[in-house]
Amino acid sequence: MRGPELLEQARKAREAAYVPYSRFKVGAAVMTTDGRVFTGCNIENAAYSPTNCAERTAIFKAVSEGARDFAALAVIADTEEPCPPCGVCRQVISEFFPETAVVYLGNLKGEVRETTIAELLPGAFSKKDLQGTAE
Ligand code: THU
Repeated sequence: MRGPELLEQARKAREAAYVPYSRFKVGAAVMTTDGRVFTGCNIENAAYSPTNCAERTAIFKAVSEGARDFAALAVIADTEEPCPPCGVCRQVISEFFPETAVVYLGNLKGEVRETTIAELLPGAFSKKDLQGTAE
């Protein structure tokens, strides 16, 4: 599945967004190296902070189904520029996505920016930073 198709999956997933507070719908889709696709939308909460972004919904769905190896991620929203992932999502993407994975940022106008998690979150805290600390 190529970028435009993954973004289309994300666009469809966006329609299920639960956004009574921000009214800002986001959709995401992730593809594993063996070609499986998992989608997600943002899910808000009256207490605000439990809100889950679309990217994390898609990644957590995939990981909870046993997926570990990712090749691509797409995120889309009705933004002026292709939708940038928030900082928390960048950290979660960096946990699972290698530097070679493609990240497609899109908007409803059809604009696409192709990037990588290394570019979006240089110097991320990672499992290597925890080495030697386990009891
Ligand atoms: N949101 C996402 O789903 N992904 C992002 O990376 C940016 C923000 C959601 C969270 C909240 O429901 C709404 O957009 C406004 O911040």
